[in-house]
Amino acid sequence: MPTSNVPTPLRSAALALALLPFALAATLCAQDVQPVQITVDAAHPGASINPSMFGIFFEDINFGADGGLYPELVKNRSFEFQEPLTGWHEVLGFSPKGIDSPKGELAIRTEDPLNPSNPHYLHVRVYDPGYSFYNTGFRGMGIESGAEYRFSAYVRTTGPKSIRATITDDTGHEIGSGTLQSLSSQWARYETVIRATATSQHARLNLILDEPGQLDLDMVSLFPVDTFKHRPNGLRKDLVQLLADMHPGFLRFPGGCIVEGRQLATRYRWKNSIGDIAQRKTIINRWNDEFDYRPAPDYFQSFGLGFYEYFQLAEDIGAQPLPILNCGMACQFNTDETAALDQLGEYIKDALDLIEFANGPVTSPWGKIRAQLGHPEPFHLTMIGVGNEQWGPRYVERYKLFAARLKAEHPEIRLVVAAGPAPSGEPFNSLWATWRTLHADIVDEHYYMSPDWFLTNTARYDHYDRSGPKVFAGEYAAQTVGTTSADNRNNWKGAIAEAAFMTGLERNGDVVQMASYAPLLANVEAWQWKPDAIWFDNLHSYGTPNYYVQRVFASNAGTRIVPVTPQAESGLYTSATLDERTHELIVKAINNTASTRAATLQLNGLSPSGTIRVTTLASADLNAENSFDHPTAVSPQPSTLDAKSNTIPVQLAPYSVTVFRIPTQ
Ligand code: AHR
Repeated sequence: MPTSNVPTPLRSAALALALLPFALAATLCAQDVQPVQITVDAAHPGASINPSMFGIFFEDINFGADGGLYPELVKNRSFEFQEPLTGWHEVLGFSPKGIDSPKGELAIRTEDPLNPSNPHYLHVRVYDPGYSFYNTGFRGMGIESGAEYRFSAYVRTTGPKSIRATITDDTGHEIGSGTLQSLSSQWARYETVIRATATSQHARLNLILDEPGQLDLDMVSLFPVDTFKHRPNGLRKDLVQLLADMHPGFLRFPGGCIVEGRQLATRYRWKNSIGDIAQRKTIINRWNDEFDYRPAPDYFQSFGLGFYEYFQLAEDIGAQPLPILNCGMACQFNTDETAALDQLGEYIKDALDLIEFANGPVTSPWGKIRAQLGHPEPFHLTMIGVGNEQWGPRYVERYKLFAARLKAEHPEIRLVVAAGPAPSGEPFNSLWATWRTLHADIVDEHYYMSPDWFLTNTARYDHYDRSGPKVFAGEYAAQTVGTTSADNRNNWKGAIAEAAFMTGLERNGDVVQMASYAPLLANVEAWQWKPDAIWFDNLHSYGTPNYYVQRVFASNAGTRIVPVTPQAESGLYTSATLDERTHELIVKAINNTASTRAATLQLNGLSPSGTIRVTTLASADLNAENSFDHPTAVSPQPSTLDAKSNTIPVQLAPYSVTVFRIPTQ
């Protein structure tokens, strides 16, 4: 029916109905563009906060150290794995007549070892010149064209006087070679530098013996010459650079559950992790067989990255060191083995000696060792964690013994204690009650929770007791599917929820002293736990959106809280700080909605004195992730803003984290 024939009143009604959706949309749009006012009360700054509050949690999980940050390319270099030939294989050539490659034999021996800490070594019998065997590395070896690699080994021989080494790529093509020569009959270390002629992500190291006879081998190593800051026994450059770029306030190490071990025998012992790398006792990694769905039978700890290297790393990236020590308890999720109270002396002595190792004068026994290792200056240790993620009365009993000695001898060292594995309920509540009674310094809370939990807990610390222990949000990450689920993603949905939550940490910076995302690193071919801040393979690495959230917060921390409203309202989350060092007001605004939010920054008590630096981290797609192909798909974008007054109109992009650095002088 043509509308012209419809009576006028009816036509009007039909028209009104037809236009209704547009009218509604127009109303909604009008609401959308209505600027929300973000009021920053710069005239009344609040408590001072720790400008180093956003830091790093490092643990050797997901091949984070061996096979990751510690760039040794030979897996099982000292033949101490449970299966001592793990990673090592003979070259066998097959023909219709049988094996026709040069013959020899590999065996594991312990007689008259290189050292008693790592007693196993490889005994090689060469029957035919040209006998060879190879190491597969940690899921292959990452080799870069033109780069140099130091090949070294401890050798003792009664036969062959040289060892030829070749590096071959994934197709077996040789991409570098070198020879250890003039080998003697006593254990001695030999080295040569190999320059690679091509790049390979899954290379291997082949050892070839051209003379018959027998020899012993130990500590076989292929190590990049170019490490971060060119340090000998140094760390993988690209990964440390990502850490340094975060500007982390502190570095927590070495974990995590790895501190505890599955049993006390395999707990982390810092004294076994320093000095000559050949003498650092290799032990099983606690994550080796933790998850049935991600078994890692070849996961051990060489301790090549040990406490000296951790302290050095912290210094190199400008972070305060925060070592976590075993308190006489193995992982309570595993054996729950506990050292008897009268056995705790050794554990407490380890803590006292660690303080001396880090801070003592070079004339003290442990300060002298630090100086001999190359660092006469102190490492400026100010805090220690007593236990990792412990709970229960047995923990409290052990803490009391630690605290009594440590506080008596080192009142300057603050002690971090655990609040158990979860952020509420039991044992969280009773532990907190105890820590308040005992006047503990800092309580370490862990939350591996859903993105929604993070969004609905931004006010978590608003009502914490200001006179009680301080908080260390020591391990957290939004679990997009479920805790420890292999399906968790490092997507923007989780990352922006973490950012929203972190505004609450910052607004409560008088209570929350420190915060760190966990875990930090994951080898894409050898991970156990998702999500993780940084992913890497043998040659490449990238930061996830979650990493960039951490980086944006850590790079834009202030020294004093500034009141701001609204704090958490309709998908908008805010915090503000003053940086008294740079004379800037720093405002963070998280827009967790799908629309652009027009906002006005209303600065009470000051006007910008120059150009505002803006950092925006945004993605309209909550499923967005970074990847090796698109490593910075979600990453901070800088811009500037000129403001004429203390009323500043801004646009907050859909699903965005925006930081405004406003000069105030
Ligand atoms: O970050 C992974 C693990 O989570 C840590 O090792 C442990 O402290 C927590 O349970």
